[in-house]
Amino acid sequence: METIKVAVQKSGRLNEDSLRILKDCGISIDNGRDQLRASARNFPMEVFYLRNGDIPQYLKDGVVDIAIIGENVLIEKGADIPVVEKLGFSRCRVSIAVPKNVEYNSINDLEGKRIATSYPNTVLQYLNQKGVTSDLHIINGSVEIAPNIGLADAVCDIVSSGSTLFKNNLKEVEVLLQSEAVLAVSPKAGAKQHKILEQLRFRLQSVLEARN
Ligand code: PRP
Ligand code: MG
Repeated sequence: METIKVAVQKSGRLNEDSLRILKDCGISIDNGRDQLRASARNFPMEVFYLRNGDIPQYLKDGVVDIAIIGENVLIEKGADIPVVEKLGFSRCRVSIAVPKNVEYNSINDLEGKRIATSYPNTVLQYLNQKGVTSDLHIINGSVEIAPNIGLADAVCDIVSSGSTLFKNNLKEVEVLLQSEAVLAVSPKAGAKQHKILEQLRFRLQSVLEARN
């Protein structure tokens, strides 16, 4: 039987809400703590539990047909991957922050400064737009510690509640983009998968409407 292959974050902030929205669509799947792959019992769907940062490439290659993923990750890594639904959860922003005690007037203050980030493409594009050149340090996690250990003058990372910034004595000074979980589609998805996708979107739209 033809199925649609969907990528879901393996662990982390999106995982639970992603599985919940599928469940709310009446699709029952194993919650997959130990498995990397699961089948839905009552819908032609296979779920692949993957690392966030890997999902855009899997979509590009057509290894999965669709994905529930943070828009911020798609923007960072996935140019040209269409988004068909905004899912209304995991809202956050990608922002630049500096130590609280540092005077900050404008982005020009970051000229020649070191910025630690997991979002180099997003930051670079923003800086280019503003005509500012900074020195980017790519870190994959715990970015907000960088200024405190003398590794950077500023950070660029996801801000959700703001508590990580607060705990690290940082202040948000530039918002680069707003993000939420979205449903993205592989450019290589076939006609049969698009048919299944239409059924899924129909259900998702009812669920999203009921949540509003
Ligand atoms: C994420 C992100 C920020 C934090 C933002 O980190 O990288 O650090 O959450 O959320 P907040 O504004 O609600 O504090 P996460 O805890 O997922 O860990 P990681 O950075 O090690 O990946
Ligand atoms: Mg973090």
